[in-house]
Amino acid sequence: MLENKRILLIVAGGIAAVKVPDLIRRLRERGAHVRCVLTKGGAQFVTPLTLAALSGDKVYQDLFSLTDESEMGHIRLSREADILLVAPATADIMAKMATGQADDLATTALLATDKPVMIAPSMNAMMWTHPATQANLLTLQNREVKVVGPGAGDLACGEVGDGRMSEVPEIIAALSRFFQKTQGQGPLAGFRAIVTSGPTHEPIDAVRYIANRSSGKQGHAVAAALAEQGAKVTLVTGPTAEPVPDGVQVQKVETAAQMLKACQAALPAEIVVCAAAVADWKVEGAGVSKIKKGKAPPELKLAENPDILATLSAPGKDRPALVIGFAAETDNLIENAKAKRAAKQCDWIVANDVSPGSGAFGGDSNTVHLVTADGVENWPTLKKRAVAERLAERIAKFAERNL
Ligand code: CTP
Repeated sequence: MLENKRILLIVAGGIAAVKVPDLIRRLRERGAHVRCVLTKGGAQFVTPLTLAALSGDKVYQDLFSLTDESEMGHIRLSREADILLVAPATADIMAKMATGQADDLATTALLATDKPVMIAPSMNAMMWTHPATQANLLTLQNREVKVVGPGAGDLACGEVGDGRMSEVPEIIAALSRFFQKTQGQGPLAGFRAIVTSGPTHEPIDAVRYIANRSSGKQGHAVAAALAEQGAKVTLVTGPTAEPVPDGVQVQKVETAAQMLKACQAALPAEIVVCAAAVADWKVEGAGVSKIKKGKAPPELKLAENPDILATLSAPGKDRPALVIGFAAETDNLIENAKAKRAAKQCDWIVANDVSPGSGAFGGDSNTVHLVTADGVENWPTLKKRAVAERLAERIAKFAERNL
């Protein structure tokens, strides 16, 4: 997967820079070309000579180097790569990336690049969990910067916690997964999938709306898992704080009507997974001005929203081969899920218990049952990510046999 890939490795100033020589060695064993940019801080931990010897290339350090600029130029440096990998990514370089600073060669290359960027954070646990670092992380993830790690364990500062840079094999695996996805390899390569996720917001007036507590975690995880299996995924999502998964095309919407329109625009597709918690009702005649507080509270008249799952499942020439819905239930889970499958004409239903004690809404885990024409499979309680991976594997099996 890494054969002939060009990796611009940016080494920032953290103790984990001592893992970089081994990283370069392992990348080159896999056929990758590695070119290093070493920051001033990075050079405190690893020498340019070591990096040059192991990478078999010149090490770039100085933004204002006449020779480097005449031979290569920092813009070309950032473009002549398939990916930019920042390892270790310190709190400082993450902050600079998030705010677009460019005061040395590394940050200038990161700002000037049109190539994907991956970071392997490494820092003290308090620095990692600090709201400033977490906000920077979210900013970077929303800009589709890929993140590997950090892991938990003993830190160089003597403390224990999150902040250890991922080990070399994990970084290599993350790079391989990234290239696998971008090359559309995997059992679902060549298949198109549409996934809905998150809540919808139905306006009451210019400033108010009706919503629900859906976090979008499950739908986003399904989109990520399908992309990892090689599918070309369009994620149609209502407002959520979830970062955009790697390798997925995103359509952001607010209302159920917009969600349906975006799904229909993304057709044709072979696979549809409706994981969004679509509001069943919208406010009839919602206006564009703010409703003023009068003597009596206003009466809201609700009208039914389109059912996206049922619309996409209806027989027709564009009907995807496999349409999957979720059934969020508090009572009679299986019976209701079976009835929903029949009523909406979808192929599979992932039934999940969202009763108050289950922790499914907004939480990280889900206990689901897969309802198909063949019967009901009870899955154990799994992290939403694991539910998504298992579902994607089932979809891949279905595609192999039927599509
Ligand atoms: N769904 C949809 N469009 C809607 C309502 C629901 O696409 N307007 C989809 C959801 O994404 C989910 C499935 O239908 O895949 C079932 O959603 P759920 O909320 O469980 O069912 P409802 O049809 O809303 O029925 P109820 O709320 O009465 O259980």
